[in-house]
Amino acid sequence: MERRRAPAAPADEGHPARPFLKWAGGKSQLLADIALYYPFDRGCTRYVEPFAGAGAVLFDILNRYRLESVYVGDCNAELVNAYLCLRDEAEEVIDRLKRLQQAFWPLDREARKAMYLERRALFNSLKDADTKTRELARTRRAALLIFLNKACFNGLYRENARGHFNVPAGSARYPAICDADNLRAVARCLQGVDIVCAGYERCLEVVDNKTFVYLDPPYRPLSASASFTAYTAASFDDTRQKELAELVARLDKRGARFLLSNSDPRNIDPQDDFFDRLYAAYIIRRVEARRSINSRGSARGPVRELLVSNFAPGGLEEDHAR
Ligand SMILES: C[S@@+](CC[C@H](N)C(=O)[O-])C[C@H]1O[C@@H](n2cnc3c(N)ncnc32)[C@H](O)[C@@H]1O
Repeated sequence: MERRRAPAAPADEGHPARPFLKWAGGKSQLLADIALYYPFDRGCTRYVEPFAGAGAVLFDILNRYRLESVYVGDCNAELVNAYLCLRDEAEEVIDRLKRLQQAFWPLDREARKAMYLERRALFNSLKDADTKTRELARTRRAALLIFLNKACFNGLYRENARGHFNVPAGSARYPAICDADNLRAVARCLQGVDIVCAGYERCLEVVDNKTFVYLDPPYRPLSASASFTAYTAASFDDTRQKELAELVARLDKRGARFLLSNSDPRNIDPQDDFFDRLYAAYIIRRVEARRSINSRGSARGPVRELLVSNFAPGGLEEDHAR
């Protein structure tokens, strides 16, 4: 069981918290559409997000509401470690990032690349280390994850089959490695939040009929070659999407309100009704997103995203949860 914590507090009004990482599938572009669903004026007092990623929706909610409880989970151990370190040891992470930025910025192109590769190798060796070493190096690992995310190509997180982070160096001259104001705002609003490294199923332990659950699973691979869902070594194919739909049905049965997002497969194949069939029992809306990282890598135009819910946005019309 997780330690019980005080309720999550909103960040200072002066500096709202923003995602501290860039992450594939980040939802910053869709916040206005997603915010229409926030049901915290409709009886919900708890928030659960089992596929946290960079947490665009999480931070938006934490900036706006003081809730009875907030649970955030992800199966990526390095990502969860960074959230935990920012919640509990932010100043140490900030000091480390300051030093990394001071070392990185003055270097020329070749030297920056060498430093990036050296830190990436260190990050991967710590990933492979024993539990005690990893725990002792937790703030170092958090700072390295943020450094690599800022200095890598296109801010992606990708692992090879051995579970090693393998994104090449980026070309930004002065990447914002240490945004201390935002990291402090993140730390403030994560106080009281339960942060868990676990598969999404684990969220069932904390969901009741006063809970809003936002689910943003890895996108469904369009084809074996187009798979871009390698946040970790395992990919989220149709079988896993169906398993997730079973969990969603249990959340619905429990009386929770849920919102799930995914890429619309009709962006590529107008006949593909996989999600329309899978979530036929609920409300499905299609909204436009402008993604910076998408399934085709180079394509960056507007694409449609699916929003599936058991209640209508803004409290209108049909409401499957009540
Ligand atoms: C689409 S991203 C979430 C993006 C996020 N909403 C944002 O704004 O950045 C999906 C996340 O799910 C995590 N994930 C993948 N499989 C998972 C599983 N079985 N259980 C929990 N988390 C998982 C990945 O590590 C990744 O961070």
